[in-house]
Amino acid sequence: MSFQPNSPAARDVAYFLHPYTNAKAHEEQGPMIIERGEGVYVYDDAGKPYIEAMAGLWCASLGFSESRLVKAATDQMNKLPYYHTFAHKAHLPGIDLAERLIKLAPVPMSKVFFCGSGSEANDTAIKLVWYYNNARGRHAKKKFISRMKGYHGVTIASASLTGTPVNHPGFDLPLAGFKHTSNPHYYRFGQEGETEEQFATRMANDLEQMILDEGPETVAAFIAEPIMGAGGVIVPPKTYYEKVQAVLKKYDVLMIADEVICGFGRTGNFWGCETMGIKPDILTCAKALSSSYLPISAVMISDDVYQPIAQASADLGVLGHGYTYSAHPVCAAVALETLKIYEERDIVGHVQAVSPHFQKRLHALIDHPLIGETRGRGLIGAVEIVADKATKKPFDPKAGAGALVNKAATEHGLIVRAIGDNIAFTPPLIINDSQIDELFDKMVKALDDGQAALQKAKAA
Ligand SMILES: Cc1ncc(COP(=O)(O)O)c(C=O)c1O
Repeated sequence: MSFQPNSPAARDVAYFLHPYTNAKAHEEQGPMIIERGEGVYVYDDAGKPYIEAMAGLWCASLGFSESRLVKAATDQMNKLPYYHTFAHKAHLPGIDLAERLIKLAPVPMSKVFFCGSGSEANDTAIKLVWYYNNARGRHAKKKFISRMKGYHGVTIASASLTGTPVNHPGFDLPLAGFKHTSNPHYYRFGQEGETEEQFATRMANDLEQMILDEGPETVAAFIAEPIMGAGGVIVPPKTYYEKVQAVLKKYDVLMIADEVICGFGRTGNFWGCETMGIKPDILTCAKALSSSYLPISAVMISDDVYQPIAQASADLGVLGHGYTYSAHPVCAAVALETLKIYEERDIVGHVQAVSPHFQKRLHALIDHPLIGETRGRGLIGAVEIVADKATKKPFDPKAGAGALVNKAATEHGLIVRAIGDNIAFTPPLIINDSQIDELFDKMVKALDDGQAALQKAKAA
């Protein structure tokens, strides 16, 4: 494709290396330029509206035009646009936000460490666990177990936790000491005749076997998203976490909940941990913490984890970890205002009110010939496209079924996310019933178009 000289598209192709993008394909097709947002909609540079059924990257919880967040940022910019929190320095937005998060935590937590992204939060969790075990004299207890298709970020260590297919090849990852246990997706990995309960037991047994194979004295922590997001929105069976946590307890392995997507109401409770019955020792969160208007993330640690860390920092002279932007005051002020809005508008109550309709429309997609499974909780959901419903046979990846549906959705003014042949939906939490109808009406059209394109390609 040729781009108009010096147009935004031409300049994008000339200068911008895009994350999670096929760079060569991008040179040909150029960018989709989003110019502005309003509520649950964004508009491209031609003025075409799209219902943003992914809230960006599972994150713009309050939609794309919350003026109170703009004001909170502006006010803080005018007062103190930057200060750090190293070496005993502090500022009120950071202090207030730390206190607020500890009070909101799903289990008693002791301290908050602030970072700039979900990846940094998980990297920090890894480092704090290593520091903690060194402080306790358990120098061999350093390995991490995550799950295949789990997503925890892209920095070197967090990418090592991540278990999705594109994050290791070409990058010399994962690092040693990062293991991936079974994915608790019953539809895909449940065996013939196996009940969900039996499947959950097998998943916990797999984890236990991995801990035993590695040596329990070498395994430090297990990390999980309460509901897996980027791996395809996987809701584990009911008793999965109960069984998993029993295994972790048995071998003194810490439980880290990655609430980067699930936190702040997404699953119908304030935390995914509450929805899924998880009692974490460490919790990481980001994204909806500030409705993603500014980058900020947090790691919460229990007092049992904090105390040895505090002692080690005294013994070593300093906790040698921190970011220039840890608790950035403008980001913290926006996060505080976000949390205030969640409370004042009862965002969790709103999610509980609209999610039955969202889930009803989501699950109704099972009637479409392309859909093999629908799954979700609260305002997160996904459908899985299959070539044969009865056998669950997927399409040949070369057919690009998910990409075709994704493209058709975009044409209909709907932004979704294709994860292979899974299509995910995580709209802003402020979505209402009629917008949910609009979303799924467009999705049905996209599936019809996708099916027609697949049939056409097969006939050709
Ligand atoms: C569950 C989870 N953890 C961590 C991350 C990484 O966050 P970031 O992209 O802010 O580094 C993501 C990003 O999507 C995520 O979904």
